[in-house]
Amino acid sequence: MKSQATPKHILFVCLGNICRSPLAEGIARVHFEKKGLAWRADSAGTSGWHEGEPPCENSIKVAKAHGVPIAHQRARPVCEADKSAFDYIVALDRKNLAELKAQGFSNIHLLGDFGGFGGEDVPDPYYFPDFEGFEKVYSMIETCVHDFIEKVENGSL
Ligand code: 4NP
Repeated sequence: MKSQATPKHILFVCLGNICRSPLAEGIARVHFEKKGLAWRADSAGTSGWHEGEPPCENSIKVAKAHGVPIAHQRARPVCEADKSAFDYIVALDRKNLAELKAQGFSNIHLLGDFGGFGGEDVPDPYYFPDFEGFEKVYSMIETCVHDFIEKVENGSL
């Protein structure tokens, strides 16, 4: 196990906190574990529309297929305490990034700026609920989250 002097806390944010950001949280947690990093990941929504709900069925299913447990997660909206609790806030698309800025969050990053995606939004599968869409979204989130964590680890963020 590698020891980490300054554990990082990362919050992933989408709109509903039931499709995309729960995947990012789960992927990050599993990655931290594999790398022996005592870091923390959480997720939230810019809306509270689904507060208290588990992730959507297809997100649970696609994550499970990749060995990432997310069914225990419960949706919540971002809150004031998140501003000091996290070192990095990572938005899943530009709309949510703008909303976080408007709410006074700082140190916000766009997930699609990592993994070679050139600033793309992670598409919202809530509106395209076929399972294939979730596989694509999972793959993009995994690539971007791994690259983001590597950049934080090597000090370039
Ligand atoms: P998410 O997807 O932001 O990836 O969790 C959505 C979930 C719910 C809604 C929109 C997007 N909604 O309109 O309720």
